[in-house]
Amino acid sequence: MTDHVTLFEMAPRDGLQNESGHIPTADKIRLIDLLSATGLTKIEATSFVSPKWVPQMADAADVMAGLTRTQGVLYSALTPNTRGFDAAITAGADEVAVFASASEGFSKANLNCTIEESLNRYRPVAKAAESAGVPLRGYVSCITDCPYDGPTPPDNVARVASDLIDMGCYEISLGDTIGHGTPKTVARVLDTLLHRIPASRLAGHFHDTKGHALDNIKVGLDRGLRSFDSAAGGLGGCPYAPGAAGNVATEAVVNMLHANGFTTGIDPERLSQAAVFAQSLRT
Ligand code: HMG
Ligand code: MG
Repeated sequence: MTDHVTLFEMAPRDGLQNESGHIPTADKIRLIDLLSATGLTKIEATSFVSPKWVPQMADAADVMAGLTRTQGVLYSALTPNTRGFDAAITAGADEVAVFASASEGFSKANLNCTIEESLNRYRPVAKAAESAGVPLRGYVSCITDCPYDGPTPPDNVARVASDLIDMGCYEISLGDTIGHGTPKTVARVLDTLLHRIPASRLAGHFHDTKGHALDNIKVGLDRGLRSFDSAAGGLGGCPYAPGAAGNVATEAVVNMLHANGFTTGIDPERLSQAAVFAQSLRT
């Protein structure tokens, strides 16, 4: 099994979306450019969602237009519907991601629709992505716990993840949206999922509210996962997930991985500079 781990950088999107103060577009672009120089190969640059729902991401097209593309770096965007997909592609996104929930409460709060309705909304996005030859990633939120519905049954996660795979997602990012997952609950949901979906098509997305994120990543590594989401400086959260802290910090994940013999291709020094800048953007 490969010892190389791919980190999907979340700071420009998940990291900044929850900040209530104004962050200049130029600073978002500078953050992406700093991250592009670290050796990261995947950066979620922004989201093409409703600006009424997430005002901080209203400048998505300007962010995409302003970043300096680095060879070997893929710039992705989150899209909640075909309108967002079209805007992302027009803006030059290399990859797009759709985002569903394993719990009805969070689906309603975050997307204003049921899980089923969200999946039906994503089917035309998936078709459009396939026609355009654009890779499609899928998120499943609340894999262990939901801020509205409490603990999430692992079978619910497996059902939504399988639907997204059937739709054409190349990888499912498993979101511990509020950071309440523990090695035990994360192991339980992964063991359920791995009956249906190979580890090579699963990624971990752990928020670090209770300080379990690194241990949860280790649970994923033990089960063969080699793709994880993280945010420089530990930024992040979702406006519709009350109580959620930031994503696990990319620099902490890189240190842990390197100390355990994994490669990431990421330069810790440059990452540290990007992380300091990311932290300075907190409003
Ligand atoms: P809605 O209010 O049910 O539907 O929103 P709507 O169609 O009436 O849209 C509302 C307004 O937004 C309308 O404008 C639309 O035109 C406009 P109005 O007519 O009132 O002037 N609109 C758009 N504008 C720009 N781009 C678009 C777009 N779509 C509609 N793509 C909707 C439904 C899905 C749009 C809304 O609920 C939404 O945007 N939700 C996104 C919320 C969000 O971004 N959450 C954070 C990301 S998810 C996350 O962080 C979790 C993750 O990190 C994993 C984890 O941690 O678990 C991924
Ligand atoms: Mg998140």
